[in-house]
Amino acid sequence: MQIQGGRFMVTGGISLIGSHVTEHLLEAGAEEVVLFDNYSLGSTEMIAHILADPKVRLVRGDITRVNELYDALDGVDGIFAIAGFLTLPFAANPALGLTVNALGHVNVLEAARYRGVKKVIFSSSVAAYGDPEPGLIDEDRPFRFSTMSPPGVLYGSTKIIGEQLGRLYSARHGVQSLSLRYSTVYGERQHYRGVNALYIIETFDKLMAGERPVIPGDGSEVHDYIHVADVARANLMAMESDVTAEAFNVATGTATSLNRLFEIVAGIVGSDLTPDYRTKEGAVRVTTSSTLDFSVEKIERMIGWTPQVSIEDGIARLIRWRQSQG
Ligand SMILES: NC(=O)c1ccc[n+]([C@@H]2O[C@H](COP(=O)([O-])OP(=O)(O)OC[C@H]3O[C@@H](n4cnc5c(N)ncnc54)[C@H](O)[C@@H]3O)[C@@H](O)[C@H]2O)c1
Repeated sequence: MQIQGGRFMVTGGISLIGSHVTEHLLEAGAEEVVLFDNYSLGSTEMIAHILADPKVRLVRGDITRVNELYDALDGVDGIFAIAGFLTLPFAANPALGLTVNALGHVNVLEAARYRGVKKVIFSSSVAAYGDPEPGLIDEDRPFRFSTMSPPGVLYGSTKIIGEQLGRLYSARHGVQSLSLRYSTVYGERQHYRGVNALYIIETFDKLMAGERPVIPGDGSEVHDYIHVADVARANLMAMESDVTAEAFNVATGTATSLNRLFEIVAGIVGSDLTPDYRTKEGAVRVTTSSTLDFSVEKIERMIGWTPQVSIEDGIARLIRWRQSQG
């Protein structure tokens, strides 16, 4: 499907990822972008420049109410299904998390089928692997949940459900669907809802306040940090491709330790404070391994996507944005 001249809906459109997907759609010449969001987590404050574009239509609606999707999908060619509860909001409200992430996605697919939408790109997560054993993690890796905390397992389960719903609607109703398994997403307009991206923004906040950031354990815990611009590009390339009923890792393939993260942030802001190594009581953590190796071979081979933003550049961009906010 061509982006230029196309009409798209972005559910969770005012979110971190949704707003970047929207910017990329507008740059690529989309005719209309419907931002569909119930404002429960995101806020329109930071995206005034996007809302000022006459090609953007903001609809306050809820994916748990299918009728609200039907009307908003008038003339839409493709949906970026981004609305969802991350692990932290999920832990705070599991009943609503299950409803939004699982039943909400049935509604998106059902509304797509009914309104003749051609393709749905689902925001999945590497949480669909749970806490994987060491080694190269390709898309066939099974879900290992026994070593993971319940919020992470429940969140990951809803992503597995969402992916399988997409395959079902693709096979049964011809609604094309791809699932993108993002690793830890970060970037401009960063929020405080992502368990692992929180280390970046909290380190920055603490250093700016002249305080020592808290890092759990010895700081050797690693995550694969993917910049939101790379995630947005993956979404557009997935929509443009002819591939359906597949899932792809959207990651850098590079593990960054919490110690390295601290070094990068401290280097950018010019701080000589040192980390306070301490595990906070009751903090939600998902994976705590010191090795992580996601394969991005499949997405490169099938849709041609590769990551472009390095962790150093990405964090510098996030911090520049944050400083510009005052
Ligand atoms: N941020 C990450 O690190 C990450 C990693 C992997 C996967 N994901 C997935 O990507 C998606 C977006 O992540 P994000 O970081 O931009 O999240 P976010 O919390 O910024 O955005 C979620 C958006 O969905 C909206 N929303 C929630 N419930 C809704 C409902 N019932 N109806 C309509 N809108 C609703 C919220 O208001 C918010 O704007 C989520 O599905 C998430 O699971 C994110």
